[in-house]
Parts: sequence; C-alpha cells; structure tokens
Amino acid sequence: MANTILVGAQWGDEGKGKIIDVLTESADVVVRYAGGNNAGHTVIVNGRKSVLHLIPSGILRKNKLCVIGNGVVCDPLGLVHEMEGLAKHGIKVTPKNFVLSETAHVVLPYHRELDSQREVIKGKNKIGTTKRGIGPAYGDKAARVGLRIADLVDSAKLKEKLSARIKENNIVLKSLGAKPLSFKKVFAEYDKAGRFLKPFVQNTVVLLHHAIRRGEDILFEGAQGTFLDIDHGTYPFVTSSNTTAGGACTGSGVPPHRMDRVVGVMKAYTTRVGEGPLPTENQEISDLLHGMGREFGATTGRARRCGWFDSVATRHATMVNGIDDLAVTNLDGLDTVETIKVCIAYRHGKKRYDYVPNDAAILAQCEPVYAEFEGWRTPTDKCKSWKQLPPKARAYLKAIAELTGAKLYIASVGPGREQTIFV
Ligand code: GDP
Ligand code: IMO
Ligand code: MG
Repeated sequence: MANTILVGAQWGDEGKGKIIDVLTESADVVVRYAGGNNAGHTVIVNGRKSVLHLIPSGILRKNKLCVIGNGVVCDPLGLVHEMEGLAKHGIKVTPKNFVLSETAHVVLPYHRELDSQREVIKGKNKIGTTKRGIGPAYGDKAARVGLRIADLVDSAKLKEKLSARIKENNIVLKSLGAKPLSFKKVFAEYDKAGRFLKPFVQNTVVLLHHAIRRGEDILFEGAQGTFLDIDHGTYPFVTSSNTTAGGACTGSGVPPHRMDRVVGVMKAYTTRVGEGPLPTENQEISDLLHGMGREFGATTGRARRCGWFDSVATRHATMVNGIDDLAVTNLDGLDTVETIKVCIAYRHGKKRYDYVPNDAAILAQCEPVYAEFEGWRTPTDKCKSWKQLPPKARAYLKAIAELTGAKLYIASVGPGREQTIFV
C-alpha cells in the first residue's frame, strides 16, 4: 500500500475512522500523529460499534502495530480507560500491537480545567472546544513547560515536574475562581496510569524507521480536519495542532520523502461541530440528517451543524494537503434529497472567492454560489460496486471529485466495513 497519510478534508468527522479501518487491511503500521482525545473515530465491524479517541483505528485488525506518535497530546487516564473499554470487547491492547511515544505530551487536569474556564471567559465568542484540555496542553508544549510521556512513567520525575506545574496552575485557577488541584491526588492518579502505560512506551521515531527499513507500509491516521488546523483552519475556531498532511511528518518523525500518497476523506455533504464559520450551513439538510439519527458528535454527543458540499473548501484542502485520492463517505445520507446543492464559489460583496479566505469574519459573511444536481432518490447502502450505484449518484461523485481536484478512490455508502466501494 506504500506509506499513506489520511487526512480529513473538511471540518472533522468525515469518516476517517471507517476508512482507516478499511485501509488498515493492507498496512502494517497505523500511526496517530496529532490531536488527542478530542478526536472520536467510529469503526463498525460486524455491526459492533467502537469509538476510538486516542488509539489508532487500526487496532480492530489483528497483527497490526498501532502507534501514538510524538505529535499527539495524550490524556493518560483517557487512554487507560479506552484500553479497558477495548478489552471488554475482546480486543487486547498489548505492547505487541500498541506503542506510545515517549515524547508525546501529557494532558493533565489543569489543562482540562483551563480549557473549560477559557471558554466561559470567551462567552459568546467561545470556540466550542471538546473541553479535553487540548489547547492548554499544546500551549504548554510550545511554552516548553509541558510534561512528556517519559516524565509520566518515571515517578521521581513526575513528582518533581507535576508539583511545580500544579503550583503555578493553581495560582491561575484560583484567579479564575476555579477550585485549585490537590497535588497528592493528581500525582497518585497519574503515577498509577504511568506505571500501567510504561511497558507500551518507546522511542517511536526509531521504531518507525526500522519498520520502513523492513519495507513495511505505514498508514498515518489524521485526526480532526483541514479547517481545524491551527495554521490552515478557520482560526481561532480551530484545534491546536497541525491536522494537515505536514503534521504527519512532524508528528511522527517520518520525513516527507518517505511519504508516498495522501488520501483525503470527505463527506458527500459538510458538517462541523463547535463554533466558527460554515458557509454552506443549511437547516433543511441538518433537519434531514438529524431526523435520521445521524450527525451527533462521537466525542461530545453534540449535534453537528450540517450543510451542502463545499467544493471551495475541499479544493483548498487538496492544495494544502496534496491530496491524491479521495474517499467520499456518507453518500447514502443524500439518498432521499430531490435537488442536491454544491458550493462552487463564495461571494463576498463584489468579490468572488475560489479559495477559502483566511479571515474567519469574512468567511462567515461569504455567500455560497451553488450548482445543483438532481438527486438519485434510491437507497445506495446496499450497493456493492460502482456499477450498482445509481447513475445520478455516480455523476454526483464524479462532479465533486473533479471540483475538489483529486482522484475518486473510495465511495462509502454506510458505516460498515463492507459498505465500501473501491472506484
Ligand atoms: P471521524 O472522526 O472522521 O472518524 O468520523 P466520526 O466517526 O466522528 O463520524 C463519522 C460518522 O459517520 C460515524 O458515525 C460513522 O460510523 C459514520 N459513517 C462513516 N462512513 C459512513 C457512510 O458512508 N455512511 C453512513 N451512513 N455512515 C458513515
Ligand atoms: P475527529 O478526529 C470534529 C473541534 C471542536 C471545536 C474545535 C476545538 O473526530 O474528526 P478542541 O477540543 O480541539 O480544542 O476543539 O475543534 N474538534 C473536532 N470537530 N471532529 C474532531 O475530531 C474534532 N476535534 C476537535 O468541536 O470546534
Ligand atoms: Mg469524529
């Protein structure tokens, strides 16, 4: 399969987990390179649903090595909880199939508390974060005051560093009117998690380069989406990491010339959870999808905002990520729609945009210019091949791939593994 970076081409929740699970069949190693347990990747195998937050979605296949790379911020309590959850479903996570980078940063309770407090202070300008402490954890990393996994699994280091960080953060928390943290309690919990995780911790950069030398194929599992990227997203309504393809290199230690291709995952429509501009947002399609019980967040349960497919955004994503191949998911979500709209440009006053403007305030004022497609109005969820898809659905898929500027590779017509059409 060669080394493949898989990214979300929209605002997250594109169905990356499902596509990762499908592509893992022909990979040896799956690596998460950015984000933390703000992600929620849904995989449905034989009707059973698993939602992965930190552990790569490749874990559901046997004999695959799953790696959390250095670019991830890891909440150890969340990770242990996730491992226990998988064990209950008979999926054993052992040092043979799961490895954690010693240089990944640790999410601590003061990060979560600060995340929540900052949202309160922002009031109506809030980001709508997942409150998992992601922003403050990456903030500490950049400020060089973060704890890394290597510190977590060494009790003496953890004690020293955590005590200093709790002292400083308690001053901030108190000034915000929040309850200070007890060092003793936090240390006990995190030291316990550190002892549990120690056997999984390795130098993952060296490990990945050894895998490459053995000729193994690596799949890089992106989290979030292009427009949640800290540099390329709709700042400040973004997450705090580089979710785009470049993040796969910095977040894993595998250099650009070892990457062979980029797969972009996008829904056949658009969704976003949290605040910030969404030019094609539309009540009719929101009501339709929510009415079908779809489009509720896998991490926070919040209803996702829904809209028509935005090819200005996905074309921009192709440019920023270098997307070669496209996986279009949730085609079946449009099965009942009479007339399907696709945004082909934005209008802002007299200006017409064919790329996504950097200023979120301008983007919020952009009016979509739509092209219309006739709906196929036939169920697609049982279609097994390109030929079985209704001609109007094929035309729609071809058109959105062409507008996006990459090759149509996969069409997904349901959440299950088997509901996947290779084009
Ligand atoms: P991720 O964060 O990108 O992995 O996406 P999520 O798991 O948060 O959200 C995608 C949702 O769409 C999940 O509920 C998936 O089970 C579901 N899904 C993925 N592909 C398809 C599809 O082709 N059809 C349908 N009906 N659901 C899909
Ligand atoms: P996956 O990997 C969709 C959004 C949040 C919020 C913003 C910042 O499942 O696609 P954060 O907690 O990261 O500081 O929140 O980013 N967000 C996501 N939206 N899918 C995700 O991950 C997301 N991870 C973060 O809703 O708007
Ligand atoms: Mg998700």
